[in-house]
Amino acid sequence: MRIAVVGARGQLGAAVAEACGAAHETVTFTRADLDTTDDAAVAAAMARVRPNAIVNASAYTNVDGAEDEPVTALKVNALAVRALARAAETHGAALVDVQTGGLSASTSLQTSDFQAAATVPQGASLSAANANGAWSEGVLTAAAAAAVSKTGATQFRIYFQFDDNDDGRPDYVGFYSGDNATAANRPQLVVRYQ
Ligand SMILES: NC(=O)c1ccc[n+]([C@@H]2O[C@H](COP(=O)([O-])OP(=O)(O)OC[C@H]3O[C@@H](n4cnc5c(N)ncnc54)[C@H](OP(=O)(O)O)[C@@H]3O)[C@@H](O)[C@H]2O)c1
Repeated sequence: MRIAVVGARGQLGAAVAEACGAAHETVTFTRADLDTTDDAAVAAAMARVRPNAIVNASAYTNVDGAEDEPVTALKVNALAVRALARAAETHGAALVDVQTGGLSASTSLQTSDFQAAATVPQGASLSAANANGAWSEGVLTAAAAAAVSKTGATQFRIYFQFDDNDDGRPDYVGFYSGDNATAANRPQLVVRYQ
């Protein structure tokens, strides 16, 4: 897992960075690396590092000073948190539409698949994979499970909840298909009887 620790020169940040560094790929940002009050810099840094988790240990901690510099205190302790939160949720969850049979006439990929109505839209949302090649998992709603064909083909369409973060960079979500040559790569549909 890749963890970004922001405010890494502070008391908390240094301790968190040390604890995370033992078990995870940890990318640290001191104030010199990243001023959290600079929204664009925050977005760019997180887009570059693409962490699985962000720990924000940056803070305006001079309690008396906050009376003299309320705007700076507000920027660091409130607005910067918003910028970091936004950087963490640029695309939202990966959602799954379920289609009994093919989204278009054929089950092979068609341009019209992207816009076609699905039997059950948003039948599941997937967990964020910890790394490339790691599993994403989701549980189908009852309606989505019912749309899975027991005798023929079923198609799943996976997409980001939010279309774009307008950062001018390409965004990818990639999955192996059910007919991938390596069996271990293929998506799995796990059926649990309760
Ligand atoms: N320490 C504790 O025991 C403890 C316990 C519970 C909760 N907390 C909370 O944890 C947070 C951090 O506390 P702390 O004790 O670690 O404080 P700290 O030692 O004063 O560290 C705060 C860090 O934030 C950095 N910072 C300030 N403004 C910044 C900005 N605009 N951009 C990027 N970094 C900025 C500072 O950078 P510089 O080093 O360059 O000044 C400093 O390294 C606070 O919210 C505090 O309430 C701390």
